[in-house]
Amino acid sequence: MALYSEKVMDHFRHPRNVGTIEDADGIGEVGNAKCGDIMKIYLKIKDERVEDVKFETFGCGSAIASSSMATEMIKGKPLTEVLTLTNKAVTEALDGLPTHKLHCSVLAEQAIQAAVKDYQAKNKAVG
Ligand code: FES
Repeated sequence: MALYSEKVMDHFRHPRNVGTIEDADGIGEVGNAKCGDIMKIYLKIKDERVEDVKFETFGCGSAIASSSMATEMIKGKPLTEVLTLTNKAVTEALDGLPTHKLHCSVLAEQAIQAAVKDYQAKNKAVG
């Protein structure tokens, strides 16, 4: 069996939602101290839903594939649902990751949560 699923390879080779959002409502940045990879998520929120999402990932292929898949999974979704996205769901959507690469999908979960929390913190300050 190949080490990586076709879905992982597809999202690695053709990542969706790469880039930045200049006037993002929430930004989340996380890193993994062990491998040194960094993931940054930008959210545009409208009516408590993800109107747009972009990512920048300075990391391995699994991290890029995880960010690409995770951003696809949260696009258009209400924030309440976005906050429940787990790395397990991202991994499953990618048809699996090798065990030693599971931490790459954890980065996606953490970066998205951080971006939502950033949005919520900023909104509290305004409201
Ligand atoms: Fe660290 Fe993939 S090896 S994020």
